[in-house]
Amino acid sequence: MNNFQYFNPVRIVFGDGQIKELSNLVPNHARVLITYGGGSAQRTGTLDEVKDALNTADSTREVFEFGGIEPNPEFTTLMKAADMVNEHHIDFILAVGGGSVIDGSKFVALVSHLTQDDGTVSRDQAWEALTSYTRNIDSAVDLGAVLTIPATGSEMNSGGVINYSERKAKLPFGNPLAYPKFSILDPTKTLTLPERQVMNGVADAFVHVMEQYLTYPVNAKVQDAFAESLLKILISEGQAVKANPEDLEVRKNIMWTATMALNGLIGTGVPQDWTTHMIGHELTSLHSIDHARTLTIVLPSVMRELKDSKKDKLLQYARNVWHISSDTTKDDDAIIEEAIVHTERFFKDLGLPVNLADANLDESAIEPIVQQLQAHGMTKLGEHKTNDLEVSRRILQRAA
Ligand code: NZQ
Ligand code: ZN
Repeated sequence: MNNFQYFNPVRIVFGDGQIKELSNLVPNHARVLITYGGGSAQRTGTLDEVKDALNTADSTREVFEFGGIEPNPEFTTLMKAADMVNEHHIDFILAVGGGSVIDGSKFVALVSHLTQDDGTVSRDQAWEALTSYTRNIDSAVDLGAVLTIPATGSEMNSGGVINYSERKAKLPFGNPLAYPKFSILDPTKTLTLPERQVMNGVADAFVHVMEQYLTYPVNAKVQDAFAESLLKILISEGQAVKANPEDLEVRKNIMWTATMALNGLIGTGVPQDWTTHMIGHELTSLHSIDHARTLTIVLPSVMRELKDSKKDKLLQYARNVWHISSDTTKDDDAIIEEAIVHTERFFKDLGLPVNLADANLDESAIEPIVQQLQAHGMTKLGEHKTNDLEVSRRILQRAA
């Protein structure tokens, strides 16, 4: 196991009816900006529930709202929210939504102090912050979250991904100041999700685990066993939620698993990959494919293309997650291929694409993606930093 420091300051408040806890979690005298997405929080009543919880008799909170944060949150929209933070002297941002709203709100929290003479946020400085992973940002507005879709882990981590359509860029950032102070996880809120989003969430969490697990062994027994458990739970609960979407016990387990998949725990002290995600981001920015669906398109090809460098972990995955026995009739390659086919079948059963054709793309999509990877400096991906553009091209060719 490699050396590591593990720190996670996010208070998780989990369970049915827990939105009422906002009255204790958000400071009594805060000037609060509630941020939300394209309308689901209004339609489902969650926004009203949040406002009611903040509006207690003993508080002098002032509450403002900013709606319209898109899936794959747009830089230009977020700049308007950041201006609002300054205009109304906001000192607490409360994100109500999924990964897009939470990521977008984290970015707003980090860049809203980058003001220019007229009091608005400098778009140039904010863009510079994004392209440098927000590394140099040293202050941020406090942030809390009410999660409405289990998927990204953003509720318990310090990262995010921002889309800038005009620049054809979808870029990640990370900064310890972006950890939410708390996140409320009420699994009943996930019952209003369309099936597509439920399945996207299961797949995104699955691939998060794979990015941190499917590398090479460093004898990290806790991380490996945790990761394998999370994968097995996502497989069983993914199938269960498809069969019984109203089963709240299943929803609870999916919600907590997705959080645990990317809150730093299983990634401590182990090498990490993230090739699938970086290629996937380009697919979203060029073709507007849902984040999770880009991952299910790319991952099987990553596994096949990199099966030699990932061999030990692929065999471990086959054995411990899919219970594929290694009898004498099968060589390692056959066992690995069987595990990949199981993975593809799992995705397909959830209605997810497993290649470019499933997303109505053909080989002509490949070169523009490779060019975008180059433009964004994604030229040394993977746990060995050896996945150059040629490797990415081969991965995409396998996915065609
Ligand atoms: O916008 P609204 O109207 O709210 O609708 C949303 C959106 O259309 C809807 N939705 C959310 N909760 C709902 C609901 N509909 C009905 N009932 C509810 N309870 O679901 C749609 C998708 O929402 P979104 O927030 O985009 O989904 P998700 O949580 O999957 O987030 C995806 C974003 O997170 C980034 C992705 O790149 C993508 O931009 N990621 C963030 C990560 C992180 N911070 O660590 C890691 C991930 O790898 C991922 O990259
Ligand atoms: Zn993801």
